[in-house]
Order: sequence, then C-alpha cells, then structure tokens
Amino acid sequence: MPDRYAVIGHPIAHSKSPLIHGLFARATGQDMAYEAIDGGAEPGGFARALAAFRAAGGRGVNVTLPFKLDALAAADKASDDARLAGAANALRWDGGRVEARNFDGIGLVRDIEVNLGLPLAGRRVLLLGAGGATRGALLPLARAGAARLFIANRTAAKAEALARALAPHLPAACALQGGGLDMPDGAFDVVINATSASLGGEAPAVPDGAFAPGALAYDMVYGKGLTPFMQRAQAAGCARVADGAGMLVEQAAEAFAWWRGVRPDTREALTVIQSRP
Ligand code: ATR
Repeated sequence: MPDRYAVIGHPIAHSKSPLIHGLFARATGQDMAYEAIDGGAEPGGFARALAAFRAAGGRGVNVTLPFKLDALAAADKASDDARLAGAANALRWDGGRVEARNFDGIGLVRDIEVNLGLPLAGRRVLLLGAGGATRGALLPLARAGAARLFIANRTAAKAEALARALAPHLPAACALQGGGLDMPDGAFDVVINATSASLGGEAPAVPDGAFAPGALAYDMVYGKGLTPFMQRAQAAGCARVADGAGMLVEQAAEAFAWWRGVRPDTREALTVIQSRP
C-alpha cells in the first residue's frame, strides 16, 4: 500500500499539486499516492475532510485556498513562519499531534534565488498587497537577507499595520515599512505582486520609478501568461519578469522533503508546469 497524501481546497479540480507530487514521487522512487480533496463550501468542511483523510490512513496534506487559516487552527504545533503568516499550507501528523508549516514564502525565496538566480542578500524588495500572500512572504524574505522590505497596498493603513505587527519578528538588519501604492520612495531590486489584482485582469498602480535598473518583477499568480502587472513592469523598462509557477513547484518540494526526508529535483516539474498552464 502506498503512503497517502492529498491537497485539500475548494475548488480543487484545477490544482497542479497531484501532478507535481506525482513527478517528485516517481523521480525519487517514493511509494506514495497523492490525491485532490474538495473541502466544500460549507462551514467546517476542512476539518471534516482532514479528519476523514486521517482516519483513512493519510500521512500528510497540502492546504490551499480557502483553508490555510483552518489548517493552522487544526494544528497542535506550528513553525514560526506559519504562526507569523497566520496560515499553514502543509500538515503532517504522527499519532495524535498535527504539525503545521507554511512553505509558500520559502518557495518564493527559492524560486527567486535558485531558479531565477537572484540572491536576495542586501536587496530592496517591494511587496504589493497586504493580505495573506504578503504576510507569508515577509519572514522568509527577511531571513534570506533582504535589506529593505516595503509593503505597498491600495489600503495604506493595512500595509502600515502589517509592517508594525511583523517588524519585531524580523532580523534587525531588515528594514520593514508599509504604506500606499504611491508611497514607496526610491527604487527596488525585486517587485512582487502579492495582490489578487491579476485575477481580475488589473495591475496594482505602482509608480514606474519603483523598478530599479535590472529589477525582477515577480507576479505570484501562475498560468495566466503575461499578467497586467508583468506588462506594466515591462512598460516601465523592467526586462526580467516571472510568474509564480516556480514558487508553486518549490513550496511543493519543501513539503515533499518534510514528509519524505528526500529533496526532489524541481527542474522536471518546473518545465512541465510552465508548459502546461
Ligand atoms: P490573500 O490572502 O490571497 O493575499 P487578501 O487578503 O484578500 O488575499 O488580499 C488581497 C490583496 O490584494 C489586498 O492587499 C488588496 O488590497 P486592499 O487591502 O486594499 O483590499 C489587494 N488588491 C486586490 N485587488 C486589487 C487591485 N485591483 N489593485 C490593487 N490591489 C488590489
């Protein structure tokens, strides 16, 4: 019997996680099965789906929208990146105790540093949006050595509050500020779109001057082609643009290594995901 893993979300039909983990399992020779579970729209759906999967012998789950907060709530023990993000995207259990992690931020860092070849140490990073996606990225970016993090949001007060809340938890060498989309002063080496604007065909109105010469413009969404944010960055003279496909694959690799003790090579999965949006 293969060891069973799953991703729980709603909706879940289009999740790439079964494909990615299937490739990892084959490449590393792990005897495991990975399925997609729809937690449904009813309140308590995540807890029910998780309990049923555990009772059926499941070993661990990935968790996607809209259940990342429920996943943290379901855990007996959580890593500091999950606690600071206020959300978890991977669970495992041993006996009765459920452990939670959040690999989204480290997935982003690995994609930028390893796949895109841009070391973050000493860099100025602008994060657009002040929701869960930004929250989960702050600690991993700061730990990677970013010198400056600016959270710019349509609702400035939300970005300011997030910066105030997270600043005491980041390494002292990292300066964290928050403000409106028009507020970041100076230019940034990496500009990350962590808003949900791309999903509605819009781009956050960041000033052109925010892109430093040679900057990387990174959209966390994937499978949408050249997003409005990426187009805006190119129009502002930014030559390097990327979407979040690599972040998706890298967070999956982190979860796989955590569950199985084997780190998969991500290149094959990256090629497959990028060619099959
Ligand atoms: P998530 O948890 O996925 O990050 P969220 O908490 O709903 O999602 O946050 C979405 C973010 O995208 C918010 O920062 C939101 O800005 P507001 O705080 O002002 O609502 C931002 N956002 C959504 N649509 C946007 C748009 N069209 N332009 C700019 N920012 C947008």
